[in-house]
Amino acid sequence: MQEMLNVEDLWVSVGDRQVLKGVHFSMNYGEINMLFGPNGAGKTSFIMTLMGFPRYRVEQGKIYFKGEDVTDKDLYERAHLGLGVSFQRPPTVKGVTLRKMIEIMSNDGAEKGKLISHIEKLHLSGHLDRGLNEGFSGGEMKRSELLQLMVQRPELVLIDEPESGVDIENIALVGEAINSLLGKDKVKDPKRSAIIITHTGYILDFVNADEGYIVVDGNLVCRGNPRDILSEIKKHGYRRCAECR
Ligand SMILES: Nc1ncnc2c1ncn2[C@@H]1O[C@H](COP(=O)(O)OP(=O)(O)O)[C@@H](O)[C@H]1O
Ligand SMILES: [Mg+2]
Repeated sequence: MQEMLNVEDLWVSVGDRQVLKGVHFSMNYGEINMLFGPNGAGKTSFIMTLMGFPRYRVEQGKIYFKGEDVTDKDLYERAHLGLGVSFQRPPTVKGVTLRKMIEIMSNDGAEKGKLISHIEKLHLSGHLDRGLNEGFSGGEMKRSELLQLMVQRPELVLIDEPESGVDIENIALVGEAINSLLGKDKVKDPKRSAIIITHTGYILDFVNADEGYIVVDGNLVCRGNPRDILSEIKKHGYRRCAECR
């Protein structure tokens, strides 16, 4: 079967900094991949480049999504093809309410009942008429990001540190939302996939990941079982990654 995502020798810079240095990566339909790695390693850069944010300049290499070369495609074209992103630090958009944003992003047809249930599950009923992320707490921002993805329904969702700024109680909520987003709480939908960046690994308690990688110095290394990777990091830090390269 054709791979869902294939990245070949990807070199990317942002500002005056080389952030990705020859990344090779591929994943199949239905897979959930976890990215670990120290601060500044290039994790966010990797998913922002996959999504097509123009600030991340591709200098060399190719990105194929569902068999199509998307390297030079605009962000909105990639979104139409089925890519979606949840930001590490989503921007505040004054004057655009969460309600409006959901209306704009909705690919969910007229299924209003489902939408209301998503909103209630994520405890966001009281936030709909506020500016997007305006004064939202860390957890509220993450839940609002996931709500937007739930109506957009991307086939491959890129989630940047879903647990950052979220208290323990709300991590379970975020974890359930991710599972629901990926259809993992129902009959397995083999087409929905994710790349999830995690700093703490807490999210692994809720989301059943297939593969893990460590990002170090602009490269993906040490592919393996995500739980094993996490326990190695807890024991030895990221020191050992240098040996993997
Ligand atoms: N606009 C920019 N100009 C210069 N350097 C940047 C810019 N954006 C990010 N960087 C740098 O690129 C490196 C990789 O960043 P990032 O991908 O966000 O790392 P991670 O998500 O792994 O913590 C960091 O050192 C960061 O400071
Ligand atoms: Mg980051």
